[in-house]
Amino acid sequence: MILEMKPDDFIISKTDTKGRLTYVNKIFMTMAEYSEEELLGKPHNIVRHPEMPKTVFKLLWSRIQNKEEIFAFVVNKTKKGNEYWVLANVTTSVDERGNIIGFYSVRRKPSDNALNIIKPLYAKMLQAERSGGIAAGEKVLNDALFQEGVSYDEFIIAIQG
Ligand SMILES: Cc1cc2nc3c(=O)[nH]c(=O)nc-3n(C[C@H](O)[C@H](O)[C@H](O)COP(=O)(O)O)c2cc1C
Repeated sequence: MILEMKPDDFIISKTDTKGRLTYVNKIFMTMAEYSEEELLGKPHNIVRHPEMPKTVFKLLWSRIQNKEEIFAFVVNKTKKGNEYWVLANVTTSVDERGNIIGFYSVRRKPSDNALNIIKPLYAKMLQAERSGGIAAGEKVLNDALFQEGVSYDEFIIAIQG
């Protein structure tokens, strides 16, 4: 079953430097159908959906490890096997010396327009990854961006509308 975020909701989580959950808000637990106890200390891939292209997570990690934020459309899988789409904004948390102390993700409801564009693109990326690995997935994404003449960030913001 596809679960939908409410338009004014935010799904929030924090992780340590390895991507293990250190905080989840109530809406996270409701959407993911897990209790706080089941989530805290677990790797964030607990909600990973098999139809998410690896390319997106590679880009996410390379950005946040460079202390750069990223916006990404992500489909997640719940404990019961349901799924929900989000537009995530992931940022890096640093201490006063600039050392990375963790990561922070705030997610909102993706627009219908964005999902109409992202779903077929991710399907194509996933298919490419299955035969040609992440490099092939990246090529599909970069070709799509090149065709539109936009950067990744511009693309994400534009399709969300
Ligand atoms: C703050 C933060 C939030 C994340 N949120 C998600 C998420 O909602 N869903 C997800 O599948 N991965 C999320 N990830 C990425 C996961 O850590 C992981 O890279 C991804 O699920 C791929 O897992 P895999 O390498 O085991 O395939 C997040 C990572 C961070 C640091």
